[in-house]
Amino acid sequence: MNITDLNSIPSSDIDYYDDELILNPYPFYKKMRDFAPAVWLSLYDVWFVSRYEDVTAGLQNPEVFCSGKGITLNPDVNAGMSGNMVMQDAPSHTSMRKVFMKPLLPQGLKEVRDQIKASADAHIDKLVKRKHFDAVDDLALFLPMNIVTNLIGIDEEGKENMLGWAAGVFNAFGHPNNARTKSGMLDVKALMNYVQQKVTRDMLVKDGWGDRLFKAADEGKITQEQATFMMFDYMIPSLDTTINATSNAIWLFSENPEQWDLLRKNPSLLPNAINEILRMEAPIRSFVRYLAKDFQIGGITLKEGSRAFLSYASASLDERKFENPEKFDITRKNASEHVGFGMGPHSCPGSNLARLEIRSLLESLLARVERFECGEPVRVPHNTLRGIKSLPVTVH
Ligand code: HEM
Repeated sequence: MNITDLNSIPSSDIDYYDDELILNPYPFYKKMRDFAPAVWLSLYDVWFVSRYEDVTAGLQNPEVFCSGKGITLNPDVNAGMSGNMVMQDAPSHTSMRKVFMKPLLPQGLKEVRDQIKASADAHIDKLVKRKHFDAVDDLALFLPMNIVTNLIGIDEEGKENMLGWAAGVFNAFGHPNNARTKSGMLDVKALMNYVQQKVTRDMLVKDGWGDRLFKAADEGKITQEQATFMMFDYMIPSLDTTINATSNAIWLFSENPEQWDLLRKNPSLLPNAINEILRMEAPIRSFVRYLAKDFQIGGITLKEGSRAFLSYASASLDERKFENPEKFDITRKNASEHVGFGMGPHSCPGSNLARLEIRSLLESLLARVERFECGEPVRVPHNTLRGIKSLPVTVH
């Protein structure tokens, strides 16, 4: 990697979408953090912001770091998905989010808590009896694929294809020249076709989360078009993110068995353990923001009209914020300050649901498993997400 100070602009010709970098991004993050608070990635004409202080400042300043012109490097995705909540600025963002959040607030989740816990328990019971299984296909996929799709109330075609479409959509967030971006665009198109041709209000389960969006549209709180887009805001960002966090959890506990022992002795550490898992391995590496005004980061001017990656993954590993950041420590005092769920007005509205899913699975495992023995995790490069494709595990 070349990093240079070009006319006082810290810049690098590193390829952020290089397979090797994606599979082992930690040296890159550290180099970026050590070199400068913002580094110009010359291959893609975009800033890379890597330190905790600057990433969180950007996320909390939507008037400068705006989302309304898209949060990806791909102009086709920025235009085609401009109706999604994550690509809005206030005031449309505010009204959409208010409606969207309702079933995801602690009060709303009360309705589904018992169902999620019971499903997790029954599923883990069966898996543990098998002793050997895949932590991704057999374990992590189960709740996001079975519970959330049912809560929204979409049909079988949607359910069957959603996981592939969702992974493709996040790949399409990459630079247009990239092969993964190009193949991801096929999934974006397939998803859009499905939405336009197949998704009707009649097909949705009555009083499911999808149906409730259309009721909010009837009441004039959002538009019909926003309701359609928002239905997929429940789906697309809820799958791989939660799946990756769950399989990362199994991997981290198998690599750090003393942390699992500690959790078994003291299950009240579970909420903090989930934060620590998300801090160590952010399922979403970064999204992009568009600079609506000139902005200074540590003496470097990010010009109006430029774009900047805000790296959730790097910020959560910043040694300026987290002591021994590479150590997995479920008792870490400030683990809850990670940026795995983002921060500010776009911070993840599904975080309570994701926590509930991960917690339910880990609680069931805590009651039944003393130790995880994992084979080699299989990782597949992805433009936006960090996760494991397959992880053979034996439970004791
Ligand atoms: C462990 C699981 C999850 C992780 C790590 C995660 C991560 C994130 C992050 C980093 C953002 C910030 C986006 C930004 O800054 O622009 C975000 C936003 C979002 N997430 Fe999640 N997410 C997870 C689960 C979910 C679930 C379960 C849902 C749906 C029920 C969901 C729906 C959304 C939506 C709609 C947004 C956009 C919010 C907005 O723009 O106001 N996520 N998520």
